[in-house]
Amino acid sequence: MPSLEEGMDKLVVAVAADHAGFELKEWLKETLSARGHEILDLGTDSETSVDYADFGHALGEAVSRGRARFGVAVCGTGIGISIAANRHKGVRAALCHDVTSARLSREHNDANVLALGSRLIGRQVAQDSLNTFLETTFAGGRHARRVDKLG
Ligand code: RB5
Repeated sequence: MPSLEEGMDKLVVAVAADHAGFELKEWLKETLSARGHEILDLGTDSETSVDYADFGHALGEAVSRGRARFGVAVCGTGIGISIAANRHKGVRAALCHDVTSARLSREHNDANVLALGSRLIGRQVAQDSLNTFLETTFAGGRHARRVDKLG
């Protein structure tokens, strides 16, 4: 299995979802476990209605503070939870609906949070996107200059 960063096969990956994303989050945790990553689960823990902003903020804070190297954020569309996560310093949450977007979010944008919409994509696309996200390294070079400008 390819490693993301040399000598860092085992990473802490934070996961968070609202009620709409709960089931997909649980499914993706199995993928993360199978890859040997440590999971920081920030909730939610059921399909009882909650506010996506609370979970996006928790995830953004965890990644921003270095408690997790990467984050996976899931809500119905992936929009609300990614907006909340992106309000935190150093967080680059990329809303992806396919494997190509997931790959390019790492290669070009050095994304550190993968945001997914559980009502828009199926489990297999979500899982493939997550694997690709974790296996792709930042290309650097001209992309580093652009990412620096994101602040
Ligand atoms: C919840 O119904 C839904 O609004 C939420 O999961 C998300 O899609 C918001 O962006």
